[in-house]
Amino acid sequence: MKIAFHLCLHFSLLVFVSCYGSDGYDPLQTALKIQRSRRSVLNHLGNEDHLAEHSNSPVYMGPQDGLKDLNKISNLPGQPAGTDFDQYSGYVTVDPNHGRALFYYLAESPVNSSINPLVLWLNGGPGCSSFGNGAMKELGPFRVNPDNTTLSRNKYAWNNVANVLFLESPAGVGFSYSNTSSDYITNDVQTAKDSYTFLVNWLERFPEYKSRDFYITGESYAGHYIPQLAQLILQNDKITNQTVINLKGIALGNAYVDEETEMTGMFDYLWTHAIISDEIHEGIISNCNFSEGATITDACNDYQNQAYVTMSNIFSYDIYTPLCSPFSNSTPSISGFDPCTDSYILGYLNTPVVQQSLHAKPVQWESCNDFIFLNWKDMPFTVLPVIQDLMARGIRVWIYSGDTDGNVPVTTSRYSIHKLKTSVRTPWYPWVYKGEVGGYVVGYENLTFVTVRGAGHFVPSYQPGRALAVFTSFLEGKLPTNR
Ligand SMILES: *[C@@H]1O[C@H](CO)[C@@H](O)[C@H](O)[C@H]1NC(C)=O
Ligand SMILES: *[C@@H]1O[C@H](CO)[C@@H](O)[C@H](O)[C@H]1NC(C)=O
Ligand SMILES: *[C@@H]1O[C@H](CO)[C@@H](O)[C@H](O)[C@H]1NC(C)=O
Ligand SMILES: *[C@@H]1O[C@H](CO)[C@@H](O)[C@H](O)[C@H]1NC(C)=O
Ligand SMILES: *[C@@H]1O[C@H](CO)[C@@H](O)[C@H](O)[C@H]1NC(C)=O
Ligand SMILES: *[C@@H]1O[C@H](CO)[C@@H](O)[C@H](O)[C@H]1NC(C)=O
Repeated sequence: MKIAFHLCLHFSLLVFVSCYGSDGYDPLQTALKIQRSRRSVLNHLGNEDHLAEHSNSPVYMGPQDGLKDLNKISNLPGQPAGTDFDQYSGYVTVDPNHGRALFYYLAESPVNSSINPLVLWLNGGPGCSSFGNGAMKELGPFRVNPDNTTLSRNKYAWNNVANVLFLESPAGVGFSYSNTSSDYITNDVQTAKDSYTFLVNWLERFPEYKSRDFYITGESYAGHYIPQLAQLILQNDKITNQTVINLKGIALGNAYVDEETEMTGMFDYLWTHAIISDEIHEGIISNCNFSEGATITDACNDYQNQAYVTMSNIFSYDIYTPLCSPFSNSTPSISGFDPCTDSYILGYLNTPVVQQSLHAKPVQWESCNDFIFLNWKDMPFTVLPVIQDLMARGIRVWIYSGDTDGNVPVTTSRYSIHKLKTSVRTPWYPWVYKGEVGGYVVGYENLTFVTVRGAGHFVPSYQPGRALAVFTSFLEGKLPTNR
């Protein structure tokens, strides 16, 4: 099996670390290819993947006294004057025997922090950092400037309406680590358990959040993490016969939730967006069976590879955005998002004084950890049954999708919703933001689907105002209309 390693290349200087911003770098599709070839070897053993079977083994609880104060960030280097909210970051030990600890960053609200909900944000990959990507590039309060050293305020930050907790998950991602290196070979089940252990310990450190309304949001491979963690929370609340975590809802952005709809939705999107030819699309339709348990033929692989080659010169996460290159200034992006942002974040987060101010261990920080996704075990084919379970249990479930993502595209989300077999309550209509169509909405039974017009995979990066409007509607539990 040949795996292409894509390195984050900068023109002036070669930096051999991985990041989303580099041409062709694609943790999710790479991990999927590995899973599929692994499955075809193991197929005769039956489906080895199964959804998390959560045992009720006791959850590790560590001492948290005094740690909240130590985690308070006095000032991030280069932070603009007049920062009017509190920030905390640090580690929560989830396994003292292995020496495994997860890193978090909390951005509280400037106003109404004590009544606003608590929202957990998770990036996917698997293996990508929620702090470096989610907070610093997407929905957090700051963006790194091109000098790599100063920050500017993101006026559409989600902490305007919620207290947002970014978790680097699992261990090995971003600043999270383990002293036992075999922990870096991990899977969905372990990730959910560790995230749960993190949450109950973190709530001891920040007890004022214990009874607060709690939501989980995220994107991409977090389409697996979020439903699995939500289900574990509900199960543990039942076992302990008390609401340990007051989970109200989940929101999944451009989420990978089902392998079949991912593949069919992606190739249909690439064809209808004039990226792959009729011949390649027709070749995929007539040679590929992406259903669970089906064999992927050589002919199918050949057509898929032709599709990947065709799309390799564009940024699959936002198909109309320029690549980060010496020419990117002269080819402005539609959304105005700077395609070289990943490189500024990489520079900033690898500055020793920045790592100190975050209470992070001195490390070579990376946007995504290749080892994690190349060695990922037990990726269930689908998490749609988990989502159905959450829907039936009264958890608010929103699926939102930026409509210029070619990686986990809006077609994939729509095919996934069809598989959920829920019925339309409020038919498709446009929602409006500042006098323009922000996207479209469908209200289903126990599910809301929202598109964000002109946004790629990283929705809040490309359409920050529209993304905040959707997030605010989600927290209010109201379909977006006009903001
Ligand atoms: C990992 O090992 C270092 C060095 O022994 C130690 O200081 C640290 O506390 C350990 N981490 C955890 C989570 O136990
Ligand atoms: C703060 O909460 C109050 C009471 O719910 C509300 O009227 C006000 O609009 C909120 N302010 C902000 C900035 O969210
Ligand atoms: C769980 O809570 C319910 C309702 O408060 C109570 O009736 C029941 O006895 C409790 N069960 C256990 C095992 O504590
Ligand atoms: C695709 O594969 C599945 C699982 O093996 C099978 O049930 C189905 O009939 C196949 N579909 C087609 C069109 O061959
Ligand atoms: C910012 O950091 C990136 C990544 O380390 C580096 O390639 C770039 O040269 C840095 N830019 C400046 C202005 O220092
Ligand atoms: C919606 O939730 C109700 C109860 O909360 C449940 O009975 C129903 O089956 C659910 N429907 C779907 C499509 O999830």
